[in-house]
Order: sequence, then structure tokens, then C-alpha cells
Amino acid sequence: MHQRVAARTRGFTESVIREMTRLVLLHHPTDGVNLAQGFPDFAAPEELKEAAQAAIRADVNQYAITWGAKSFRDGISAKSRRFLGIDVDPETEITVTCGATEAMIATMLALLDPGDEVVIFEPFYENYGPDCILSAAVPRFVPLRPPDWSFDPAQLAAAFGEKTRAIVINTPNNPTGKVFSRDELTLIGALCSQHDCLIITDEIYEHMTYDGWTHVSPISLPGLRERTVVINALSKTFSVTGWRVGYVIAPPDLTGAIRKVHDFLTVGAAAPLQEAGAVAMQMPDGYYVQLRSEYEERRDLLVAILDQVGLRPFVPHGAYYAMCDISGFGFSDDVAFARHLVEELGVAVVPGSSFYREAGMGSQLVRFAFPKRLETLRRAGELLSALRPSARTRSSPSAAGGG
Ligand SMILES: Cc1ncc(COP(=O)(O)O)c(C=O)c1O
Repeated sequence: MHQRVAARTRGFTESVIREMTRLVLLHHPTDGVNLAQGFPDFAAPEELKEAAQAAIRADVNQYAITWGAKSFRDGISAKSRRFLGIDVDPETEITVTCGATEAMIATMLALLDPGDEVVIFEPFYENYGPDCILSAAVPRFVPLRPPDWSFDPAQLAAAFGEKTRAIVINTPNNPTGKVFSRDELTLIGALCSQHDCLIITDEIYEHMTYDGWTHVSPISLPGLRERTVVINALSKTFSVTGWRVGYVIAPPDLTGAIRKVHDFLTVGAAAPLQEAGAVAMQMPDGYYVQLRSEYEERRDLLVAILDQVGLRPFVPHGAYYAMCDISGFGFSDDVAFARHLVEELGVAVVPGSSFYREAGMGSQLVRFAFPKRLETLRRAGELLSALRPSARTRSSPSAAGGG
């Protein structure tokens, strides 16, 4: 008998995030709070909703140009000049995709050969592992170490070798909230220049930075423009995760390859939503100031709640997640703890092991997401107040299948 499923997909597991979402609905259909999945529970900007509706009414309902509507690409170029200080040619250096998710897989499929090695910081956003497997690339993991999620430069240098073709950076970072500093990016850039590697940088949380931290993109650093691929999307900045509109900025030769893969994968992102994207790119500076201050308020509230119940958060400088140390609660692992939270208290979170290649490495961590209304976070605080540190060790029947 032939295997009915390809070897490369057999190891894929169902997302734990979706499982937590299912469990909170099952056990607490009316009173639960989902802080597992990273999407807002508040409205998207009126201007964008109007623009999308107007585009549909104006019959922008057929395929857009496969690499993106001109108005949207022009907007992305203008916004890149405004925020990153770089000139990007909308005709040759931008590809519009179905979210950052497609942007990343199209980039890897287009630029990596089987056996090429890719350096990835760990903990990492869940998709990067499967992205490597689908493109037959080999990940080389380098730890980000709590509490500040710094990396050891010697360990990073040791991860680069003959076969290294790229590094994947995510700044501001999911799940840690780390914002990579100019010095760190300069060091990474020097290694990539030395080994002639690409820098693939996922900047989907670029506008969410706190405590005076600011986002630095490697594409804006001296000498790195030609080897940097920027992945981004409307999803987080404009609270439209369901629209599935993202983009890739890359030098023309790389963009040529990415556009071809993108064409075969999806043909194009939703045409009317790209018109709304053009409007999004023109939002005034005040929009971003307000976005940042509202997210900082949410961050502060969640951190205060977590502190109060003894969850020991690693305070994030960016993005919209907080990792917590659960070792004071006496659970055998993160999955047992997350199940307890969702089943007994009605709060869904993501077990830390989801972000590591070996479950044991995240076994005393869980991630809370805070793109939520203040009232939602307060409600989570009420539910979490039933949590009590315990000396007892509790275990999960399915702990081994953890992440
Ligand atoms: C780091 C990172 N990259 C990409 C994505 C996915 O983005 P999109 O919804 O635009 O595909 C997410 C979503 O959570 C993310 O956290």
C-alpha cells in the first residue's frame, strides 16, 4: 500500500492554539476569555471598512495584478519611505500576498534549495518550522534566553556554516515581545554579509513597541539592503487578521522569483481589500501614535493582572504577547497548566512548548495575547484571580504530545 499522505506533512500537528480556542468554547461557551489566539476583539478602522465596501461597490471584484494592485504597491512604497527611510520600487521590489503567512512560505519556496540551512531564533513563531519543512530547508536554532531574550553572539556565529542560506528574524517578536536592537541587528547583518546569507525579517508587529523602544528594520541598516527580505501585512497594524493581505519587499531578482511562486500558490490577494490597503498605507501619523498608546495600556493592564496572580510575566517591549513563568504553580508542564486554565477557570492561553522544537524547553512557560478590549482583559483578571500557587505537582495525561 502506498502512503496516502506525503512524508513531509506527516509530522505536522494541529495547532495547539486552535485546540485551546476549541476548549474554551466547549467548557466556558459564554463566560470564557480567549487569550490564546493573536487577533483583536475590537473594531477595525472605519476608513478601511468604508474603502473595502466602496471597492466592492465599484466592482473591483476580479483578479488584481498577480503581484498586487498598483495603488497598494505605491502605498507600501510611500509607507516604507516614511517609516523605514528606504526607497522601494513598487514595480520591481514589492509582492502583495495572502497575509504574512503566504509572504513567508512564498519567500522560502522561491529562495531556498533543499538542504539549505536557515538560522531561526528559538522560541519562534509556530509557522517557521513547517515553512522550512515545506521548502526542504534545514532549520538551525539559536536560543533567545530569558529574562531579556538576548542571544549569545558566539552561539549565533556557530550556527552559520557552509550551507547557511538565510536567517529568519521576527522583530518585534512573537512570542517573547523582544525588540531586536540596532546593535544586535548590526551583528546579525555582519554574519550574514560574511556568509553571504539572506535576512528574512518578519515585521508584522512593527508599530507595536513600548517603553520608548522603536522598531529597527535590518533593511534600513548600511550594506544590508541587497540581502534583506521584509515580510509584513495589514493583519495586526490595522486589526484585519481575517482579510489575509500581506506583502514582501525584496531586491528585484528575489522579487522576480517570489512573484512566480506567489502566482502559482494563490494568484493574488483579494482585489477589493488591496484597495482598502492603499487607504491603510495613507493613515496619518496620529493613527500609529494612538495604536501604540492603546496597546501599551493593554500591555500594562495585562502585566499588572499577571503579576497580581503570581504568574511572573517577562514584560514585553513589543508585539502583543506576554510570556509567563509558571514554575511557581507546581504543574508538571505547560500543557497541564494551560488545560487547567481553560477547563477550570475559562481562560485560554498557549503552552510555551508550542514555540520550541522540543516540548521540554517551554514546559514552564505559557503565552498570553493582549490584542483585546480593556474590559476583556479585566474579565480575564477576574477569572485568573482563582489561581493559587501550589506546591503539588499535577500532570497532564497527554503531556508528551505537548506543542
Ligand atoms: C510573527 C508572525 N508572523 C506572521 C503571522 C501571520 O500573519 P498573517 O495573519 O498576516 O498571515 C503572525 C500571526 O500571528 C505572527 O505572529
